[in-house]
Amino acid sequence: MRWSTLIVAGQAFVASALAQTTCSKYTNDLPAPSMAAGYISDIAFQGLKFPRGIQWDTTGHLLVVDRGVGIYRFSVDDCLHLQDETLIVNNTLLNHGISMSPDGKTLFASTNDVAYSWAYDPQTGTVSDQKTLVTGMANPVDGGHITRTLLSPISKPDWLIISVGSQSNIDEFNLASSSGKAQIRAFNVSEVSEKSVDFNQGGFILGFGLRNSVGLGEDNQAQLWSVENSVDNITRDGQEIYQNNPAEELNFHGSLLDMSPRGDYGYPNCFAVWSADEIPLEHNLFIGDQFAMYDNSTMNDTLCAELYQPPRISFQAHQAPLDIKFDGDGNAWISFHGSWNRAVPVGYHVVKVDFANGQPVDKNDSSTAAMEIMANPDLTMCQSACFRPVGLGFDTAGHLWMSSDATGEIYVIRKSDGSGVAAYTSTAAVTGPTPGPTPTGSSGDKKSVAGRVAVGVTAWIVSVVAGLSMMIYFF
Ligand SMILES: *[C@@H]1O[C@H](CO)[C@@H](O)[C@H](O)[C@H]1NC(C)=O
Ligand SMILES: *[C@@H]1O[C@H](CO)[C@@H](O)[C@H](O)[C@H]1NC(C)=O
Ligand SMILES: *[C@@H]1O[C@H](CO)[C@@H](O)[C@H](O)[C@H]1NC(C)=O
Ligand SMILES: *[C@@H]1O[C@H](CO)[C@@H](O)[C@H](O)[C@H]1NC(C)=O
Ligand SMILES: *[C@@H]1O[C@H](CO)[C@@H](O)[C@H](O)[C@H]1NC(C)=O
Ligand SMILES: *[C@@H]1O[C@H](CO)[C@@H](O)[C@H](O)[C@H]1NC(C)=O
Repeated sequence: MRWSTLIVAGQAFVASALAQTTCSKYTNDLPAPSMAAGYISDIAFQGLKFPRGIQWDTTGHLLVVDRGVGIYRFSVDDCLHLQDETLIVNNTLLNHGISMSPDGKTLFASTNDVAYSWAYDPQTGTVSDQKTLVTGMANPVDGGHITRTLLSPISKPDWLIISVGSQSNIDEFNLASSSGKAQIRAFNVSEVSEKSVDFNQGGFILGFGLRNSVGLGEDNQAQLWSVENSVDNITRDGQEIYQNNPAEELNFHGSLLDMSPRGDYGYPNCFAVWSADEIPLEHNLFIGDQFAMYDNSTMNDTLCAELYQPPRISFQAHQAPLDIKFDGDGNAWISFHGSWNRAVPVGYHVVKVDFANGQPVDKNDSSTAAMEIMANPDLTMCQSACFRPVGLGFDTAGHLWMSSDATGEIYVIRKSDGSGVAAYTSTAAVTGPTPGPTPTGSSGDKKSVAGRVAVGVTAWIVSVVAGLSMMIYFF
């Protein structure tokens, strides 16, 4: 073999080893997430206070609502670590909601009471011209739900969609749509930018009788979906049935291009069945059917079925779905924050629900629509020693980014070869970081990360020594 060939080979080896080993890893005290086969995850950032909603801008920067602090903007380095942390909105009342107009020039965020907008410069990340768009969303009494999820839909850039939860676990009064609680409304941004409006005095109702639909998602067919957190401590005819009921819900809100009125999804009169066996019933009900807390002449299961819209897909009770985002293949990804109202913890994971032609592949009585992708390996350690998924967001490479409020972290989920989890959705007018580095994350095949880093470092040392010795020998 010619020496020059050896040198080229040695240098290529050095270069490839260097590319593999320049990424250090964030670690924490939690057991490595368990990943579905073919997927890995890495920590992209640590040290936030309580990160909730996340949003990509059009120049590949991630914006994060840190509850009690404001909005941070980050750039992404070649190792898919967040860097250049900059607080672009200093407002300790911002607590969850964030969205960006499809053109990337208007940023939206919310407190428990108010939705704001800012003119946003995607090049510099600076905000200006703060406007109060929608007010009057706070609950008059403590104890109600506090997040006001925002969505600026690609198919309807004039709209800002806002979800407001109920005032308590089971609101006492008959919850009409005119209560302004437990519902989703769309506001005309041009109009409310001119003059702010009280939530309950404006907007177009995209669904009511929704206890707390924290996750809002627009699919790639201009349709709206939400994930609803259903009630705690539910009883049937006075008997406790809350371990596995009612179901958490994936609700369908129809096309965003269609302005016909949306319906009542049942709260607080009717709920969705998860475990029918544990509900005293006089007749057969199945997963996703609506049931009432009492079966009497005022409200009963028959009326529930007649009057209210059932979920399109149901999930195990109490998992607390907080976000839903669609990938470029049209499938839904859902974050579950995890349970408290249950003897054994459930949730605390990120799942995928397969779609075809704009609808879930599974039927409405499926118990297996959610495919677990990233989970805490030991749920008995939750809530104290678990990551808790909140906000989700795809970058343009199709990597799925996720905030964990309890641990103050941002994670990134990829395929094991480092590529995106799915094609990126072409409807979203954003650009993001390029495909990432050689993957090092915790993976579905459960190879130790430390082991792989050690292999990489060893390879690097060997290649440097080999490269140097070859050069010394030659010269
Ligand atoms: C945010 O604003 C408050 C005063 O309103 C100030 O005390 C604080 O230092 C600011 N925080 C940052 C990180 O700039
Ligand atoms: C929003 O309001 C403006 C001004 O009234 C109007 O031109 C526009 O069509 C409205 N957009 C939607 C989606 O209703
Ligand atoms: C579920 O779908 C079937 C048809 O596929 C329909 O007959 C049934 O009413 C639906 N159930 C609910 C609760 O929506
Ligand atoms: C039926 O149950 C509801 C609670 O869901 C209760 O408020 C109502 O008084 C009951 N009606 C009758 C006739 O028992
Ligand atoms: C449910 O309530 C309606 C309206 O009061 C009544 O007509 C119907 O008989 C009730 N059904 C059952 C099963 O109680
Ligand atoms: C609800 O259930 C939890 C247990 O999961 C219990 O600690 C709490 O006291 C219950 N609340 C009410 C109002 O029954």
